[in-house]
Amino acid sequence: MKIKNICCIGAGYVGGPTMAVIAQKNPGIKVTVVDLNEKRIAAWNDSNLDNLPIYEPGLDKVVGEARGRNLFFSTEVDKAIDEAEMIFISVNTPTKTYGVGKGMAADLKYIELCARQIARVSTNDKIIVEKSTLPVRTAQAIKNILDNTGNDVNFQILSNPEFLAEGTAVEDLMAPDRVLIGGEQTPEGLEAIDALVNVYGSWVARENIITTNLWSSELSKLTANAFLAQRVSSINSLSELCEVTGADVNEVANAIGKDSRIGPKFLKASVGFGGSCFQKDILNLVYIAKSYGLDAVADYWEQVIIMNDHQKHRFAKNMVKTLYNTVSGKKIAFLGWAFKKDTNDTRESAAIYVADILLDEQANIVAYDPKVTAEQMYGDLDYLQTRDSSSNEKGLTVVKNPYEALNDAHAIAVLTEWDEFKGYDWQKIYDNMQKPAFVFDGRSVLDKPALEQIGFQVYVIGQ
Ligand code: UDX
Ligand code: UDX
Ligand code: ADP
Repeated sequence: MKIKNICCIGAGYVGGPTMAVIAQKNPGIKVTVVDLNEKRIAAWNDSNLDNLPIYEPGLDKVVGEARGRNLFFSTEVDKAIDEAEMIFISVNTPTKTYGVGKGMAADLKYIELCARQIARVSTNDKIIVEKSTLPVRTAQAIKNILDNTGNDVNFQILSNPEFLAEGTAVEDLMAPDRVLIGGEQTPEGLEAIDALVNVYGSWVARENIITTNLWSSELSKLTANAFLAQRVSSINSLSELCEVTGADVNEVANAIGKDSRIGPKFLKASVGFGGSCFQKDILNLVYIAKSYGLDAVADYWEQVIIMNDHQKHRFAKNMVKTLYNTVSGKKIAFLGWAFKKDTNDTRESAAIYVADILLDEQANIVAYDPKVTAEQMYGDLDYLQTRDSSSNEKGLTVVKNPYEALNDAHAIAVLTEWDEFKGYDWQKIYDNMQKPAFVFDGRSVLDKPALEQIGFQVYVIGQ
């Protein structure tokens, strides 16, 4: 079966870049990305490519090439569903904030709404592709809805989890380590798998396209993220041990990472991992394990989150302690708010939690991030519901010029590893700060000896 028309529901961090690359690499397939959010779709259609709703290096070029040719962004969801032979579901699946499984289970209401909408609109057979990260066996739920509410058309469900990382999304999509496609092991299921293999096959080598049953594919996505997060929590746990023993966590990471059985990646100690996936996926894994009565398995993975929370708290508490046990009324400059560099995404960013703790201590935070808006930062703090919006606005000031944040500050906290921070005029920054001038580098990006030479008191995670 040759696919000519693809629809993707959800124009976010996953759907947008993935469809842009699929369209760029398959000029013969019409790809329509739909979203309920009109503002977001308008931004995807903005003639100025600097205004795309998400920031990803290289994305503007890909969108510029394909948009209007065979890549379209629209709010006409029903029309796009009807026209497509293959529909990707790429909507958000946040952690539930209410009811059973609150704080742990994935909230599938957006997925369910999509499934019901697809069932209502479809008048011919379709292949449905789960792109969002979902708990294992979600495909069954989607299938039940489609088969019981549809117009007697046939649906094949595939799981095709996304492994792209934000900040390198285009790179990851162009040259993926692997593409994973799970489907039913029936003749119809295998045919659907084959159709999707062909879409990716136009630029990904066949040996890098893995096909499995549905449940393996769904579970692999959750566990791949759990393994990555576990490495970060493991090295972060060692960072604390390094600080008390005199070892240097960067040296330890380098030494253990040279063992080819361990490997060098994801061993960078930090103020804590963030992002839309790691915490959510592990919580999901824990919830699933518990629901099958596998308490030891659940407890094992939950520890990865506990360590991450500890790391964020530890960083903030260390700041307070170092600043003579009080930050009340002190100006604290935040460099970075995004959960990692080269993205404007802030979901679960460590910066939010560090800010929350310091605001409880009555600090005056002045934040600068090259890509994150003030609106986003206030929204992040409000979402925690620790205090009302007006208190958040009083405690946090957001600036567009980093030096405005740094002038007169008592301390600087580096919370995202943006490259530009390294190139600042650190002598000038020192001259304009309160003394002693403290730097807390939560990402190990700055040149510690050079800063100490200038006169800064520098704390780096794990040293
Ligand atoms: C280990 C370290 O590998 C070595 O670098 C160190 O110097 C000494 O300790 P060893 O204990 O000899 O070496 O064997 P290793 O191959 O690491 O296996 C340890 C145990 O883990 C074995 O029981 C092995 O069967 C088990 N294992 C290993 C697994 O169950 N699964 C795996 O994927 C790998
Ligand atoms: C992750 C997975 O990498 C990706 O495959 C999946 O599809 C989605 O989730 P992402 O969340 O975009 O991608 O970013 P990632 O690069 O994995 O980083 C996650 C967090 O871990 C960031 O906050 C990052 O700063 C932190 N991290 C990562 C570390 O603190 N140390 C490291 O060594 C690596
Ligand atoms: P992700 O990181 O998984 O891509 P995002 O939140 O960035 O998550 O994107 C998900 C997008 O899905 C949002 O823009 C949201 O408006 C959209 N969405 C959610 N439910 C629906 C729906 N039923 N129909 C169309 N779009 C939807």
